[in-house]
Amino acid sequence: MGKPIKRKLARKINISLFLTTTMGILSKIATNDGHGENTPYFDGWKAFNRNPFHPTQNPEGVIQLGLAENQLCFDLIKNWITKNPEASICTPEGVEDFKDIANFQDYHGLPEFRQAVAKFMGKARGGRATFEPDRIVMGGGATGANELIMFCLADPGDAFLVPSPYYAAFNRDPRMAHWSKTSSSSLRQLEQFRTTVFKSPKFVSVAEVIEEMDCNRDLIHIIYSLSKDMGLPGFRVGIVYSYNDAVVNCGRKMSSFGLVSSQTQYLLASMLSDEEFVDNFIAESSKRLAKRHHTFTKGLEQVGINCLKSNAGLFFWMDLRHLLKEQTFEGEIALWRKIINDVKLNVSPGCAFECKEPGWFRVCFANIDDDTVQVTLKRIGAFVRQGKEDEKPTKKRWQQNLRLSFSSRMYEQGVMSPHMLSPHSPIPQSPLVRART
Ligand SMILES: Cc1ncc(COP(=O)(O)O)c(C=O)c1O
Repeated sequence: MGKPIKRKLARKINISLFLTTTMGILSKIATNDGHGENTPYFDGWKAFNRNPFHPTQNPEGVIQLGLAENQLCFDLIKNWITKNPEASICTPEGVEDFKDIANFQDYHGLPEFRQAVAKFMGKARGGRATFEPDRIVMGGGATGANELIMFCLADPGDAFLVPSPYYAAFNRDPRMAHWSKTSSSSLRQLEQFRTTVFKSPKFVSVAEVIEEMDCNRDLIHIIYSLSKDMGLPGFRVGIVYSYNDAVVNCGRKMSSFGLVSSQTQYLLASMLSDEEFVDNFIAESSKRLAKRHHTFTKGLEQVGINCLKSNAGLFFWMDLRHLLKEQTFEGEIALWRKIINDVKLNVSPGCAFECKEPGWFRVCFANIDDDTVQVTLKRIGAFVRQGKEDEKPTKKRWQQNLRLSFSSRMYEQGVMSPHMLSPHSPIPQSPLVRART
């Protein structure tokens, strides 16, 4: 074969390889649009990424209130790391262990990591439950842990019951997986917000409940992660804690797909074994969350916005039902678009979480600093005031640059009749009490 013919053939092969790669290569699951990313929840993130707020470099940018990060205690972690340089294998004090840790570790994880996590899980539950290190199975964050437990428990056609409103990415994560439809009579309890409880009533873990009642423990599995409690989502530390030996064994085998890096395990083994640090962290985190929650929700109250009463977590539900032009999810999305485009706040509309009632918006309150909270409150205040101005008969426009408006009739109803519209009303209005069937 002459050179030109060879080249022609090579080009043909290249072209056909290219076509296969770009056209038919993706699986049905990858292309079925079940990733759920075309939703306001993710659109809000994109709007933030395009134009992120910065106090000096971009003060008109979008403020990120859609990401449930816990950033209030990073100073405590930073202090601990500075004081314990040997806990990291990338410091002069710790580098002697670099080789051992960087080499292959088995799927069980470092024994000291499992021990430290088991102890931390107990402490995080106020010492009212104990956990065995040998039942700790690793996953890549709660997301990976969820996937792992689904793999272990579910057959095609099975289903999970998830109370709504639920984590928006559940629409993406479980649907992406082929064994997504899952099942059985098992109880899979997600307990990843345990140390974020900042007010009574206290959190009761399923691990405490089963201490006091007779039940089949083989059916109980707890999903835990350090993303929320420690504010370390980037570390991807997820845990499946199952009382069922078969699930632990199967999970251990599957965990090879989502192991926690041994470097992370090593650092956390040391940090979480430091009881003084852990006790202080848990107490301080709860105090700071309480303070932030109070400042934020009181600030909103002053401009006539109520929030659903809550005692834990990194977000609250803001009640904007009175600002909807129509009490529908279309109305909710229209309001959300104004908030994101004009007020430049990335809050998430309830429909992204399968709320059953339009007008509720999720606000993450622990991922910004105090000054940004004040900027947020000012923007919301201006938004509410502008809405009232727009509806006055004289239509005075004090702030031409704010183009937001809503019906003052609805506003007055919301502010003047809190009894009717209070999110704490005993009438089953709350999006938090409705289960989806
Ligand atoms: C209920 C729930 N599950 C999972 C996650 C993701 O957690 P991780 O980063 O540990 O995967 C979140 C985060 O917001 C969540 O709220």
